[in-house]
Amino acid sequence: MSFDEIIDRRGTHCVKWDMMEERYGVPADDGIAMWVADMDFRPPRCVLDAVQGMVDHGVFGYHGDDRSYREAICWWMKERHGWQVDPSWIFTTAGLVNAVAINLEAFTAPGDDIVLFTPVYHAFARVIRAAGRNVVECEMPVQDGIYRMDFDAWDAQMTGSEKMLILCSPHNPGGRVWTRAELEGIADFARRHDLMIVSDEIHHDIVYPGAHHIPMSTLPGIADRLIMLTAPSKTFNIAGAHTGQVIIEDPNLRDRFARRMAGLGKSPNSFGLFMTEAAYSPEGAAWVDDLVAYLDGNRQLVDSSINAIPGLRSMPMQSTYLAWVDFSGTGMAREEFTARVEKGARIATNHGPTFGKGGDSVLRFNFGTPRSRVAEAMERLASAFSDLQ
Ligand SMILES: Cc1ncc(COP(=O)(O)O)c(C=O)c1O
Repeated sequence: MSFDEIIDRRGTHCVKWDMMEERYGVPADDGIAMWVADMDFRPPRCVLDAVQGMVDHGVFGYHGDDRSYREAICWWMKERHGWQVDPSWIFTTAGLVNAVAINLEAFTAPGDDIVLFTPVYHAFARVIRAAGRNVVECEMPVQDGIYRMDFDAWDAQMTGSEKMLILCSPHNPGGRVWTRAELEGIADFARRHDLMIVSDEIHHDIVYPGAHHIPMSTLPGIADRLIMLTAPSKTFNIAGAHTGQVIIEDPNLRDRFARRMAGLGKSPNSFGLFMTEAAYSPEGAAWVDDLVAYLDGNRQLVDSSINAIPGLRSMPMQSTYLAWVDFSGTGMAREEFTARVEKGARIATNHGPTFGKGGDSVLRFNFGTPRSRVAEAMERLASAFSDLQ
């Protein structure tokens, strides 16, 4: 399987390509979709075979006996992340936005304050507000070009009505892999303000050489306030299966979460379970190693091309296939640099302000696509800003 293969996704009901004209006015015929965080690659053969096996069998009844699915998840977390999970700790949700929503329901009440370190993945704030809770934005400072924690400032910001922190680790959109010291700082911050931590680690498998992801759950003394969220969807490009995992070590928290799940009448989709089990395998692992190497090449191309355009700066990334590009050095208003990207270069990106504070002068570019397309996008970008050269 080659990551260089161009697969035309237009006309397949995929949001990334089929909605970009409606959403951004970027033409479907020759626009380049670099927004929504899914990739333009097929998953590994083992995942395709699992789905093919279901289709060949042809009977799609209720799923039962998910032991092998749970064991595959435990194997992956141990093998890839050094994290020992017990099969009984795992719940399956319809993806991680759904998991965040259920956690809000299970552990907080309407009117509660929920802390986000912003800018951060936009759906968190959307779901918090839709659930009648309040978003408290702790803005991350940029130091030496990357996002940092500022616990002193955030301590002063807390009022006592905050109940939960939703953490993105590794960080979308900044591409940071948090260090052990930073994670310990987060754990201390949560203890000081009596916050539950929901740690969304969906990007944990896509980590570039030189960085090492540490699961929050491997920190000592944190389990009694920690909910872990993981999913194969970003890693294996199977987001449409809408299958994610909520992993809870603490029995009391597990019990509360289980009751909320039961109250919502939740049960998983068998396609997602089959795909997850197939993905979390030695064959899946080898594919991920190749994927990360390929994405690393794209990352280098994106960084060098963008940083060569005066006034543009791509934040150095340790994880994800999402480049966070700051246009403030151009001195242009948002409308102008956005129009140059969308109308001039015909590239659809995510707009920075949707990620919260700190996103005003930024666009997020998804480079999880064949290299030739990344190269084409970078050429178009250079020519849209050629007057600055
Ligand atoms: C941090 C984070 N969490 C969750 C999601 C989406 O999860 P799901 O598709 O499982 O709802 C994304 C998608 O980009 C993400 O970046």
